[in-house]
Amino acid sequence: MEQTFIMIKPDGVQRGLVGEIISRFEKKGFTLAGLKFITVDRPFAEKHYEDLSAKPFFNGLVEYIISGPVVAMVWQGKNVVTTGRKIIGATNPAESAPGTIRGDFAIEIGRNVIHGSDAVESARKEIALWFPDGPVSWRSSLN
Ligand code: CMP
Repeated sequence: MEQTFIMIKPDGVQRGLVGEIISRFEKKGFTLAGLKFITVDRPFAEKHYEDLSAKPFFNGLVEYIISGPVVAMVWQGKNVVTTGRKIIGATNPAESAPGTIRGDFAIEIGRNVIHGSDAVESARKEIALWFPDGPVSWRSSLN
């Protein structure tokens, strides 16, 4: 089954949008396949956004992503990559339609609340980067 990587960025966490965002994906019918609450360091953020390293906003983007904890998730279901991007809305909140996450909750492109993989192949790479031990953590005992 198709999977995508979804990250609630530090502004989404700080603004208390975690429940709202998870709810939108659940209500659509997608399945949560992995979740972690995590603060990443600069090299990790640079790796995640390596395709954008030549962009003038790259350093600011990395600063933003490492500024606080994020919620990293794997969501699963039919066409979840494309449909997930529709639920999220256009990258620039000025262009994202009302009813989408960014359309409803964001104004600035540099504080756009959420990230979603743009293709099946990038989803595969991003899931491998963020969940190197698999999407579900296991713990066998308390000792
Ligand atoms: P995301 O979906 O995480 O993919 C790349 C990110 O780069 C994007 O969301 C924005 O957070 C950021 N971004 C893209 N364009 C700009 C821009 N012009 N200025 C600042 N940040 C940008």
